[in-house]
Amino acid sequence: MQFTAENKAKFDTILARYPVKRSAILPALHIAQEQEGYLSKEAMEYVGSLLELTPAQVHDTASYYTMFHFKPQGKTLLEFCTNLSCALHGADDLIEKTCKRLGIQEGGTTEDGRFTVTRVECLAACGGGPAVQVNGEWVENAKEEDLSKILGGTLEYRPFEWPKSPGEPVMLRNVWKKDSATLAVYEAGGGYANLGKSLKLTPEEIIETVKKSTLRGRGGAGFPTGLKWSFLPKDNPKPRYLVVNADESEPGTFKDRLILENDPHQLLEACVVSSHALKAKTCFIYIRGEFHEAIRTMERATAEAYAAGYLGKNILGTGIDVDVVIHGGAGAYECGEETALLESLEGKRGQPRLKPPFPATNGLYNCPTIVNNVETIACVPIILEKGAEWFASWGTEKNGGPKLYCVSGHVARPGTYEAPMGRITLRELIYDPKYGGGMKDGHTLRAVVPGGSSTPVLLPSEIDVAMDFDSIAKAGSMLGSAATIVMDDSVCMVWMAQRLTYFYKHESCGKCSPCREGTGWMLRILDRIEAGHGEMKDLEVLWGVTDSIGGKTLCPFGDAAIAPPQSTLKKFREEYEYHVREKQCWRKVARTFEEAKAKAAKGALAGAPA
Ligand SMILES: Cc1cc2nc3c(=O)[nH]c(=O)nc-3n(C[C@H](O)[C@H](O)[C@H](O)COP(=O)(O)O)c2cc1C
Ligand code: SF4
Ligand code: FES
Repeated sequence: MQFTAENKAKFDTILARYPVKRSAILPALHIAQEQEGYLSKEAMEYVGSLLELTPAQVHDTASYYTMFHFKPQGKTLLEFCTNLSCALHGADDLIEKTCKRLGIQEGGTTEDGRFTVTRVECLAACGGGPAVQVNGEWVENAKEEDLSKILGGTLEYRPFEWPKSPGEPVMLRNVWKKDSATLAVYEAGGGYANLGKSLKLTPEEIIETVKKSTLRGRGGAGFPTGLKWSFLPKDNPKPRYLVVNADESEPGTFKDRLILENDPHQLLEACVVSSHALKAKTCFIYIRGEFHEAIRTMERATAEAYAAGYLGKNILGTGIDVDVVIHGGAGAYECGEETALLESLEGKRGQPRLKPPFPATNGLYNCPTIVNNVETIACVPIILEKGAEWFASWGTEKNGGPKLYCVSGHVARPGTYEAPMGRITLRELIYDPKYGGGMKDGHTLRAVVPGGSSTPVLLPSEIDVAMDFDSIAKAGSMLGSAATIVMDDSVCMVWMAQRLTYFYKHESCGKCSPCREGTGWMLRILDRIEAGHGEMKDLEVLWGVTDSIGGKTLCPFGDAAIAPPQSTLKKFREEYEYHVREKQCWRKVARTFEEAKAKAAKGALAGAPA
């Protein structure tokens, strides 16, 4: 097997972007899979020969990523997200009905080779759940009545209709414009106008301004960005890198996608000024592989920016050089963890490194590296344009700036909304008609995951809390990626914990035992309880397993994985006990848990001796 001449030329262009050949392995495997339909032994040997790797090294990397297939697939690949936000809108039913229509099992291919149907994890389309990708293209808000059109080939693309944010958006000022992803529209809105001025500032001046702005990382941990930047060593002669984390895979999170698909130049301008601040000449934007549209859009915008002199050598005559490389992943949530991301970018399995040393000193190719989230980096030109004081005052104390909030699940208006950080409460985000718009179909609120699947659930009585890092932490959870998943009174909390634990078991990278083994144990116990086969002692065992994972793993994935079972065990224990006592999920007998409890009490009363 060999690449066609066209693919070989494409590969050669890609290869030239990386200082180390192996980094081109994921793009090379994507090209090979696209050409051959799957990754055959010969295809992997060929990729190995191009990159000076053994077939075993190629297979070792390829087998880590869910997007690579080792046997032929159907001509049309239908990938159904069945993670929490999509499952709340009937994703399980939809995939089951699709398989039934095609007469295949999940993961199977029709006999005529036309269709393969698979279940995938969160696609960052949570607001448009149930989300399906048809040969990599979005079909969101998919319903049973769409199936004939999807299978008939007349519905191949229907992305989410992002509802508008109220007020004067800052970060989202461009995304609603027609052709917002083009350079012309970005420039017409003032884009790149301040770039020349910003590049005249010294790197130290920019870092000081970012520090003063109180910008905190939007990727989940909320670490102060300026402080992180100041950890770069002063005396290391090696090249420095900026790596933008666009892996966006935490269930409930679909905010970076809005920028990547609809305002790519905002991010590119931000990459240029941030690279200048960090004295980095190369910036890699690592985009999750499932973001086919975002990767295309960012590549188009990058080419436009090079042609216009906003990227490359001697930008706007300032003598500053910055190259931006768009790098697509291949399906692995763990690649969002910054050191796993760097391993992946180096062409290896996306497994994290032991820290310290931190990426600031020993990052990509063992060089000083800063990893920041898309939204974090996108804030930098805003800070330079409007000033650090403005930025800090736009949010709340120590939580400066505009913030993107995702809302999905059982609300009337799922979407990604902008508000000044912390100047909106969780209640407003859910109920305000300009944001989430309240609960759907007359249901009442049962629980909220405030910051993505790895953050502990909050009760309806706990939602009068400002949506900033410190206030949500005080309320006993985390702001995380500010991805709110809203659940109404029809949702069983054991089922919810089971669903998210399935995700964590599926995504564990397997490098450390507490997480690799523990996620499996948690899932087995939750499966048992949810199916009505659990015993009371399972509740203690489950808690014990969470306890033996929390704080004892190589990376924060372990702490993330225990949040759903631990927080539901704490706050919804009664529901767990019901499953054990009644030997079934309450949803088998009632529409709400309160109703199920009342029925059980009545039954017990009727059975009691007179
Ligand atoms: C399992 C796991 C997944 C993560 N996924 C992402 C992600 O998709 N995007 C992201 O920006 N940060 C993610 N992070 C956080 C990164 O490790 C890192 O803290 C972040 O990219 C730093 O950027 P920031 O300082 O701008 O927030 C993840 C962390 C863990 C432990
Ligand atoms: S905690 Fe999980 S994801 Fe992180 S290194 Fe250990 S096994 Fe891998
Ligand atoms: S896209 Fe389905 S849960 Fe996120």
